[in-house]
Amino acid sequence: MKALAGQVALITGGGRGIGAETGKQLAQQGATVVLVARTQAQLEATAAQIREAGGKAHWFVADVSDEGAMREAVQGALGITGNLDILVNNAGFIQAVGLIEDSTPAEWWHTLEGNLKGLYLTTRLVLPHMLAQGHGQIVNVLSVAGTRAFAGLSAYSCAKAAGLMFTRILAKEVRKRGVRVMAILPGAVDTAIWGEGEGVPDRQKMIRPETVAQIITQMLLTPKDATIDELLVLPKEGIL
Ligand SMILES: NC(=O)c1ccc[n+]([C@@H]2O[C@H](COP(=O)([O-])OP(=O)(O)OC[C@H]3O[C@@H](n4cnc5c(N)ncnc54)[C@H](OP(=O)(O)O)[C@@H]3O)[C@@H](O)[C@H]2O)c1
Repeated sequence: MKALAGQVALITGGGRGIGAETGKQLAQQGATVVLVARTQAQLEATAAQIREAGGKAHWFVADVSDEGAMREAVQGALGITGNLDILVNNAGFIQAVGLIEDSTPAEWWHTLEGNLKGLYLTTRLVLPHMLAQGHGQIVNVLSVAGTRAFAGLSAYSCAKAAGLMFTRILAKEVRKRGVRVMAILPGAVDTAIWGEGEGVPDRQKMIRPETVAQIITQMLLTPKDATIDELLVLPKEGIL
């Protein structure tokens, strides 16, 4: 029997990049995958790839920072699958890039909120089901930018740093009630999040999104007597 057979995994930001690759790999392990993002075409395409490979996939269009939309997505997922065993809080984006002195409050706050509020809202919606069933796993996809200072990335980095403390507090609150909470902090990964502009590091040196997905899958497959609390994953040449 496959390791995750019978389990249901909700993956935010599952339309492309790390989230899509994680969806594919968790489905290969037997999980039923529920993908959430804002772009329907990408969700459809990823779900189709999972199904063509013999896996089970569903999707919901929602912005993770929209509580009502996320409530519908979580309820919809539960309506189809009946349970939620795994949550991968992966949705995120980079905006408000530039020096603090040049930033605009609206864009800075939007970036902070988009990357942090969704993590909180999605967790809050899924957690009661995990606690009621007495088991569950949550992986928060954060960033090395949440632990080290990169000039020009203040809003994104503050969101990821807050996400790390959120993860630590959540783990303290629920770990003795059967829910394992973990964080992965990748360095540069070759995805669309970098855009095409100047200053993008050499993509050939970045980590492949499939590799991050493989590591997330391994975290979720960690034997039950242990937990990988926080995992820093860098390109083999280090921070690019
Ligand atoms: N790539 C890197 O170098 C790197 C490094 C460290 C950490 N990370 C983190 O890894 C995660 C995944 O990023 P990625 O590199 O795979 O980027 P990506 O290829 O741009 O994928 C991001 C995914 O998140 C979704 N998303 C973004 N904002 C959303 C929102 N408000 N509501 C719902 N879905 C949303 C996107 O779909 P829609 O736009 O259609 O909603 C997309 O499916 C992010 O949290 C990112 O911060 C990435």
